[in-house]
Amino acid sequence: MSLKGVILAGGLGSRLAPLTKITNKHLLPIYCKPMIYYPIQTLVDAGITDILIVTGGTHAGEFLRLLGNGAKFGLTHINYTYQEGEGGIAEALRLAKHFADDDKIVVILGDNIIEKSIKKQVDAFRRQSSGARILLKKVNDPDRFGVVSFEGGKIASIIEKPKKPRSNYAVTGIYMYDSQVFDIIKTLKPSRRGELEITDVNNAYLKRGQLEHSILSGWWTDAGTFDSLLRATNLVAKKEAKV
Ligand code: DAU
Repeated sequence: MSLKGVILAGGLGSRLAPLTKITNKHLLPIYCKPMIYYPIQTLVDAGITDILIVTGGTHAGEFLRLLGNGAKFGLTHINYTYQEGEGGIAEALRLAKHFADDDKIVVILGDNIIEKSIKKQVDAFRRQSSGARILLKKVNDPDRFGVVSFEGGKIASIIEKPKKPRSNYAVTGIYMYDSQVFDIIKTLKPSRRGELEITDVNNAYLKRGQLEHSILSGWWTDAGTFDSLLRATNLVAKKEAKV
């Protein structure tokens, strides 16, 4: 069974207005490259070459102009699909059902940028016969993310943007799922912010006793706010300077 990659690059990027008024958030620069380059490279470096990009908004065509068939990444083809509106991460993922076609998938949010390879964690998921695997990272500002609580070394719950986080471990925007994910998404109801939440998907796997986790090594950042966009640029600049 092959492992496929899905990059979620929909949404309207409203937190970055006016930068996102005339382009898609994931086409904005992070140091020397457009944001979308980084999650593509993350998947390719992990050995995943069958990739779907879910995008949306009024500038979706620019992805095709920028990326084409992905020759820059050594790919011969990229799949694209379109999300109407911004109904949430799980809603965007639902659009990947036909692409996944019963195979396991590695999902990465288009604004998540990391320092190191996830090959080890992806290989662990390849060996996992079923269920899901999430990647966690210790952070100083857990209230901005999905946050896990542990009991006896095992994940006990995941809460989306908790006011009083029960740990410093954020759920990063890199998720690995088997084909049950699409049945789970069908059962979801919109949250208070009107979105289908990926945290509800992960909690559904947790309830089934099928949620594994790994800790991400190296730095990790999102890039969806002015501060995190700047942080991402600075981290990448430092990394590039080292090579
Ligand atoms: O970055 C990790 C965090 O991402 C997780 O810790 C949270 O649990 C998860 O909910 C998410 O939090 P955010 O609220 O920061 O996600 P945001 O709305 O900024 O969306 C992140 C990416 O997901 C965005 O760059 C593109 C994609 N997306 C988002 C929405 C709302 C879509 O493709 N479609 C959408 O409708």
